[in-house]
Amino acid sequence: MLKTIDVSRAFPIQGEEDFYALKKVNVHIEKSRLTVLVGKSGSGKTTLMNILGALDPPTEGKVLFEGQDIAQLPETERCRLRRKKVGYVFQSVALIPLMTALENVAFALRLAGEKRGLEDRALECLRLVGLEKRAGHLPQELSGGEQQRVAIARAMAHRPSILFADEPTAELDSGTALQVAHIFRDLTDKEGITVVMTTHDRELATIGDKIYALEDGEIIAGN
Ligand SMILES: Nc1ncnc2c1ncn2[C@@H]1O[C@H](COP(=O)(O)OP(=O)(O)OP(=O)(O)O)[C@@H](O)[C@H]1O
Ligand SMILES: [Mg+2]
Repeated sequence: MLKTIDVSRAFPIQGEEDFYALKKVNVHIEKSRLTVLVGKSGSGKTTLMNILGALDPPTEGKVLFEGQDIAQLPETERCRLRRKKVGYVFQSVALIPLMTALENVAFALRLAGEKRGLEDRALECLRLVGLEKRAGHLPQELSGGEQQRVAIARAMAHRPSILFADEPTAELDSGTALQVAHIFRDLTDKEGITVVMTTHDRELATIGDKIYALEDGEIIAGN
């Protein structure tokens, strides 16, 4: 469904040679599976995730998304692809503070171009993350883990082909982090959603069907 072929990403550094944050990376993201990218801070997880999610183009290499090479797609095309096919969950939740959990999810659906059944779909997604009873709560009335679950509901509500989560558990205690990781596990197992998640926690990473370990911009292990 999504694969990279020898993807590299260089950043220009003033007065120095380019810095390669990714070096000839080959990963294969399979449909309806949970893929985890694990590595220390600075290993290149976010850089790779942003390339996989069409947020950023690689310097070299191919990114095949549903058969199409998206590596050198113009920004407008990448933007359309992101809106329709991709969902994102970030480390910091960033829900809209004046909207309830339900309204946050419904609002994201409207931004994605949906017009009907917004609230029904929003409630269904909150149910999938175990939060239907909190639908009327404002973000400040939810725990950190609950807020992150609303963010997951929001990211998947428009039925993206693929869901990306960059360190979604980094700001949570280890128990809550595990709960949130299990939500992704359930979304793949029960809903067939394709998920790519990053973490620096090697133990948490074992929840993945497929685990790629990154070090200094290179894949050092992948099963
Ligand atoms: N815009 C940029 N310009 C220069 N170097 C960059 C830029 N963005 C990232 N880097 C470098 O690329 C490397 C990989 O960064 P990246 O954000 O992908 O790491 P990460 O694995 O996500 O780390 P973390 O766990 O801290 O989020 C780092 O050494 C970083 O300093
Ligand atoms: Mg990162």
